[in-house]
Amino acid sequence: MKFFADTANLNQILEVHALGILDGVTTNPSLMAKEGIKGEEAILAHYALLAKEIPGDISAEVIATDYEGIMKEGRRLAKISDNIVVKVPMIKDGIKAISSFTAEGIRTNCTLIFSPGQALIAAKAGASYVSPFIGRIDDIAGDGMNLISQLVNIFTNYGFGTEVLAASVRHPLHIVQCAELGADVVTCPPSVILQLLQHPLTDIGLEKFLADHKKLNG
Ligand code: E4P
Repeated sequence: MKFFADTANLNQILEVHALGILDGVTTNPSLMAKEGIKGEEAILAHYALLAKEIPGDISAEVIATDYEGIMKEGRRLAKISDNIVVKVPMIKDGIKAISSFTAEGIRTNCTLIFSPGQALIAAKAGASYVSPFIGRIDDIAGDGMNLISQLVNIFTNYGFGTEVLAASVRHPLHIVQCAELGADVVTCPPSVILQLLQHPLTDIGLEKFLADHKKLNG
């Protein structure tokens, strides 16, 4: 399973990358705004920086919601680097654009997926990734993990090349459950990835090992 960092914060991305376990990054307009990155030039420059620092796919989201606008923005983003994946919202013009990007050899991530039908359409249009938002489904008392299970089954049934990129991850259990269900990728806030490392019995066990060693060796 691939691990992506779901943030535009370079320091946090590099902290996980230093562990040697990071496969890519996803961003969205809210995450870019959170880092105070504004204006077209600054946004493009930040994507270029992420694409240079991280040797994996970097999802860069379009702001336009009409076909022509999405195409124009997406082509500009894709030109930044080969590892930029154009993130396109799950709307009618977005699907039309994903079909065109696919024909042009530009890779895409269809975002804001909340149902199996939406994911099926995106896969048929040739999306490289679909992003089901599991946390936001759970937030409204739905079952985000059931959607992951449905998508993995559907894509396996028909041999779609589209990868299931579980998004809106809230806690380490989400990651483990995604792994059990066979999601291709999880994108998580770096803090959630780091939480996976922790277990109180590891801390207690290590403390005891070191104390026993000290007793004999001083
Ligand atoms: C993924 O691509 C999205 O940017 C992200 O996972 C959304 O997460 P949120 O629901 O925590 O905002």
